[in-house]
Amino acid sequence: MGTLIHGGTVVTATDTYDADILIEGETVVTIGKNLDKGKHEVIDASGAFVFPGGIDPHTHFDMPFGGTVTADDFETGTRGAAMGGTTTVVDFALHTRGDSLQNALDKWKEKASGKAVIDYAFHLTIADGRDETMAEIPKMIAAGVNSFKVFMAYKHVLYVDDETIFKTLQVCRDAGGLVQVHAENGDVIEVITKQALAEGKTEPKWHALTRPVECEGEATHRAIRLAEIAGAPLYVVHVSSAMAADAISDGRKRGLPVYGETCPQYLVCDFTDYERPNFEGAKYVLSPPIREKWNQGVLLRKLKNMELHSFGSDHCSFNLCGQKELGKNDFSKIPNGAPTAEDRLAILWQVGVNSGLMSPNQFVALCSTNPAKFFGLFPRKGTIAAGSDADILVWDPKKKRTISAKTHHMNVDNNVFEGMTVEGRPRYVFSRGKMVADGDKFTGAKGAGKHQKSARYFPVSV
Ligand code: URP
Ligand code: ZN
Ligand code: ZN
Repeated sequence: MGTLIHGGTVVTATDTYDADILIEGETVVTIGKNLDKGKHEVIDASGAFVFPGGIDPHTHFDMPFGGTVTADDFETGTRGAAMGGTTTVVDFALHTRGDSLQNALDKWKEKASGKAVIDYAFHLTIADGRDETMAEIPKMIAAGVNSFKVFMAYKHVLYVDDETIFKTLQVCRDAGGLVQVHAENGDVIEVITKQALAEGKTEPKWHALTRPVECEGEATHRAIRLAEIAGAPLYVVHVSSAMAADAISDGRKRGLPVYGETCPQYLVCDFTDYERPNFEGAKYVLSPPIREKWNQGVLLRKLKNMELHSFGSDHCSFNLCGQKELGKNDFSKIPNGAPTAEDRLAILWQVGVNSGLMSPNQFVALCSTNPAKFFGLFPRKGTIAAGSDADILVWDPKKKRTISAKTHHMNVDNNVFEGMTVEGRPRYVFSRGKMVADGDKFTGAKGAGKHQKSARYFPVSV
C-alpha cells in the first residue's frame, strides 16, 4: 500500500500539469492521470498545487554566535521549516581557526543527528587559509560537502582576508567545490562601528548605519573579481541591496558563473523597522542589514528575471528576551540574525506570485530546484519525478494566515514578519514519503531527518 496524492496540479521548475502522484516507501514511483486508488492512502490535493518540497540553502541551527547560541536547534529549526513547506535544509558547519574541517563537519553532524525532523546537508565555512585547511577541501567534497563559505565581514570573528578567499576559490575550482561569500567590507565596518560607539550612538538602527550599502557593493564586486581571476564559480549569499545585485548582474554580463541568493527579510522589511520603539528594532539586526524600501522591488525583479538565482532564509534565530538584549546599550553586541525558515515560502509566494510578477514554476525554481542543483542534491531532491525522493508540498494557494510569533513553530519569541497576512500555505508536507505537516499540525518525528551527501559541484545553468 502506498500514498496517492490525488487531484492536484503538479508544478515543477519547468512544467505544470494535472496529475496524481503515487508514493511507495520513500520514493515517487508513478505520476499519471486518474491513477487507480487501490488500497492506497488517498491524500486530497484538489484545488492545490503539488510542488517538490522546499530546499532551504541557508540555515544556522544550534550555532554559537554573538556571545550566545541560536534559539533554534536542529529539532525546532527543522520543525519550523517543515511547517512552512521545506523538506531539506543546508546548514553551515562552522570551521574554527587552527582546527580541521573534518572536526567542524563531525560536530555539526552530531548536532543534527537524532534531532532534525527533515533531511539536511551541510556547507562548511573556512576560517583560515592554512595549507592543511586547503588540502582538506577535496576530502570534504568526497565526504559530501560541495560548498564553502568565506566571510569578508565580522572582523576578528569569522572574517578572512583576500588571500584566504583567493586560495579557497582556486582549490574549489579544481576540486569541484562552490565558494559562497558573505560580501561586506569588514575592515570598513569595524572602523565606522568604533566611531559610532565613541559618539554614543548605541541604538539598533546604528547596526544598519554602520554597514552602509557601499560596503556590500564593494565587497560583492571584489569577490566577483577575485573569482574571475581564479576562474572559479561564486555564489553570493544573502544579497540585501540593489547595489550588490547589480554587481552580480554585471559579472554575469561578462559571462562569469556568478550566482546570487536573496532572502525573505530583504523583500518585506525595510530600514524604518530599526526605528521601532522599545528595542524592537533589535529583531532586524542581521547582516547585511535591512535596506531602504526601494531595494525590495529591485531584488524582486531580479529574482523574476533570473539575475538572482536562489531563495534562502538565512534563518539564525535569537530571542529578544535574554539574547538580542545583550546589545541593549551597544548595537554591536546584538546577536545578528532572524527566524525566517518557516515563512520563507509564504513570503515569496505572497510578494512574488500573488503580486502577479512570478509564475509558480519560478517560485519552485528559486525555492527548491535551483538550491538542489547548486548544492548537489538534484534530481534526488528539488523536483517531482519517478525515482526522486517523495519530498512533496501540497500547497493551498487560497488559504490565508497571519504570521505571528504566538503561532509559529520555531523556538523563538519574535518574528520579523509579525502581523503580515499571507495567502497561500501548506496543506500537507511529506518528507521521504512520511507526512510531517497536516495543515497546522506537526506530524513528523524528532530524528527522522537524514544527512544527505552533496554531489561535487557541477556547473549550473540558470
Ligand atoms: O545576520 C546574519 N545573517 N546571521 C547569520 C550569519 C550570516 O552571516 O549568515
Ligand atoms: Zn553571512
Ligand atoms: Zn547566514
